[in-house]
Amino acid sequence: MPPPAACAGDGVDAITTPALVIDLDAMERNLQRMAAFAAGRGLRLRPHAKMHKSARIAALQVQAGAVGVCVQKLAEAEALADGGVQDIFISNEIVAPDKLARVAALAQRVRLAIAVDSPLGVERLAVALRAAGAGLDVFVEIDVGQGRCGVAPAAAGALAQQVVAHGLRFAGLQAYHGRAQHLRAAAERESAIRHAVALARAAQASITAAGIACPLVTGAGTGSFAFEAASGVYGELQPGSYLFMDRDYADNEPTPQAPRFEHALFVKSQVMSRGEAHAVVDAGHKSHAIDSGLPRVHGLDLEFANGGDEHGILRPRGDALPALGDTVWLIPGHCDPTVNLHDHYVVLRGGLSKGVVEAVWPIDARGCLS
Ligand SMILES: Cc1ncc(COP(=O)(O)O)c(C=O)c1O
Repeated sequence: MPPPAACAGDGVDAITTPALVIDLDAMERNLQRMAAFAAGRGLRLRPHAKMHKSARIAALQVQAGAVGVCVQKLAEAEALADGGVQDIFISNEIVAPDKLARVAALAQRVRLAIAVDSPLGVERLAVALRAAGAGLDVFVEIDVGQGRCGVAPAAAGALAQQVVAHGLRFAGLQAYHGRAQHLRAAAERESAIRHAVALARAAQASITAAGIACPLVTGAGTGSFAFEAASGVYGELQPGSYLFMDRDYADNEPTPQAPRFEHALFVKSQVMSRGEAHAVVDAGHKSHAIDSGLPRVHGLDLEFANGGDEHGILRPRGDALPALGDTVWLIPGHCDPTVNLHDHYVVLRGGLSKGVVEAVWPIDARGCLS
């Protein structure tokens, strides 16, 4: 594996390009703003670590008051547990017996929770846990508008009964509305979450009618958390991207009730070729994901066009093109899959122009898809 793009103590100019760089001062402000928001409302914060995939960052979130983290994949949970994370919710379904055996093994090492949305999933989970003599918290996932995983709210009570009948710990409802996050208008997001809250209430009623207590409703992301927080139904928030704030989230109309978050994740790139009317940087879509659109150039009004795997094309807009050899900072369109392209974060203290590398952090759960 090639060495990281920089070493602790290097000045910002010494960071080899392309490199994934955290502006640590901005990230810490984002971290504190979200922690204060949740604490101020008496809500549990369980940030989604599928975004940063880093045990160090998870530890910082827990230090600031988070109860633990969410992940989406078992292998992410294993990698973070190896890095010392003690409280992990796999906010997703697993039905393969071999993976459920790994879930049971992991439940013996850390405090673990998982989501279910089928009787077969519950049954196989129970078999795996019984074989290992392990226990964990089980959340019934309901579909609150995403049209992905989750049972209909009216079916939540019956599935919770199955959980209890198998001797498992029923912990509450997983109720995440992913599609609401990137609706551009704040009013549209509010309306989508109003609907999600109504569905979560219906699911709670179905569970109560089954004679079971529903201890917690968990969900929410960076685009909508202020609405779930105000609902009186959600007791735990799961936002992830607030920490880095990618271009796609910055394109949302801000939510008036939510704190503002700053861009804290950048791809440092360099102009490697210059034409009359364009410049070429050494960062293409192998250094930044393009599923949510192209990166934005930080601090300069330039158009960024996709130049392929290893190249980005800059064209002038309000600002003149940079010169050959100049540094250009890119704000990724979507942070989660961008992070998954890199082995390390270069962690910068003191800003993008004069900063010094404070550390290099491994991206522990990079590529952990199983
Ligand atoms: C289940 C779940 N919860 C929370 C989040 C956090 O969302 P975001 O990173 O958009 O804040 C996600 C992201 O996809 C998710 O899948």
